[in-house]
Amino acid sequence: REVWLYDPGYVSTACCHSSITFIDGDKGVLEYRGYPIEALAASCGFTSVAHLLLEGTFPASVSARSLFAQSIEPKAGIHPLVGDVIQSFPRDAHPMTMLMSATAAMSACRPEWNPALVRGDGGSLRLVYGTRALRSHIAQECISLIGSAAAAIFRHMHGMSVYSERSAAVSVKHSTGASPNSFASAFLRAADPQGSIWPENSQQFAVFAEALDVLFVLHADHELNCSTAAMRHLASAGSDVLTCLAAAIGALYGPLHGGANEAVLNMLEDIGSPDAVEAYVASVKRQERKLMGFGHRVYRSYDPRAKLMRQLARKVLQEAADGHNQRSSEPTGADTTTDPLLLIAQRLEKRALEDSYFTERKLYPNVDFYSGVVYRAMRFPNVFFPVLFAVARSVGWLAHWMEMLDRDALDAERKIVRPRQVYVGHRQQRIPQDAMEK
Ligand code: CMC
Repeated sequence: REVWLYDPGYVSTACCHSSITFIDGDKGVLEYRGYPIEALAASCGFTSVAHLLLEGTFPASVSARSLFAQSIEPKAGIHPLVGDVIQSFPRDAHPMTMLMSATAAMSACRPEWNPALVRGDGGSLRLVYGTRALRSHIAQECISLIGSAAAAIFRHMHGMSVYSERSAAVSVKHSTGASPNSFASAFLRAADPQGSIWPENSQQFAVFAEALDVLFVLHADHELNCSTAAMRHLASAGSDVLTCLAAAIGALYGPLHGGANEAVLNMLEDIGSPDAVEAYVASVKRQERKLMGFGHRVYRSYDPRAKLMRQLARKVLQEAADGHNQRSSEPTGADTTTDPLLLIAQRLEKRALEDSYFTERKLYPNVDFYSGVVYRAMRFPNVFFPVLFAVARSVGWLAHWMEMLDRDALDAERKIVRPRQVYVGHRQQRIPQDAMEK
């Protein structure tokens, strides 16, 4: 009789070799292609990090980076079918549903991106997705498509036209001035072409774009998380890349995964004031609810991304408060220390880290604990947070897709993913007389 290793949640099952992202969960270490996340966040823009994840190297020159930036950045133009899909949703529908549907619809516009069944040298049939160069081109186009769809969804949610008149394509020389040319600034321009939410050339636009680019770097990849596993899972069946991406977006939507940033903000708003933190923590300990933004399957110490996110939160909240004071005729004097949600988050974190219930279970803040606070300060609605996560994570999904298809030599890893189950139901039952229809 066959015996299967029973591993629900794949807690101790590795299903591929990968050289994209390294995590040491006990020490709180995260590296992309061997480069520590702290160094990447401090020194590189999202465009270079995307190149690193997809191709294994930084862009070879400034002009190579410019070309790559142009190919991946969000554009204002979208395919009419995708625009029509987005417009068919009520403006208050969840944007992750819109992004999932828009991505799946794009698959119908790209039939040539389906794999072909060809006979290999050894005579066996296999699915082939073109050359390495073609796959690289497809990956870049997909990143741009998802960013562009996300921007169109943002416009739709805010009553703007899905079909923006203005081209979001920007000159890609690297700049940190008032109007930066980064992936994140291209996204902000595509999402708000008239500058009514983020006026271009303002100090605030520059600060928000810079912070958003760092957020995108922190979210770009995280080895075989639930959505990346979904991406590889579908790719193993030979599904086209956009269908794989739609599935990955669906997995990311869940509140235990990418939906956690939205859930954290909802939780902080529900708690309402720092004084109510104690009662909330007590209810978590009674296991009536979860402390969203805490805990991680791999990290058993502080998530390094959460540390960076906390620093970023202070900077962005300060800029948001300064901008508010400048706009308002009556300055509020608000600063980073008086933002109510940040105060609640900080009290909650301190309280949990002092409590053996959380430390014994090795529950520490994860990347999503502070990211929602930052996104909210930038004036993104709560429901849009997971979409921003998806825009960044599209790079990781596609890096894994490329790696999976590149590893031709490892045929075992090209097998269709098909776990076994341990059957615990009845056997050989007789159909009751009254259930018989024929
Ligand atoms: N609040 C309260 N208790 C928790 C939490 C939490 N957030 N997370 C885990 N626990 C408890 C859990 O109840 C269990 O306790 P016990 O041993 O008494 O049964 C213990 O800790 C182990 O938890 P687990 O569910 O076995 O851990 P897991 O590795 O399967 O789950 C997780 C990881 C991220 C799904 C979980 O920690 C969680 O639900 N966190 C909240 C949601 C969240 O913030 N998700 C974002 C993750 S990071 C970004 C991303 O992946 O996208």
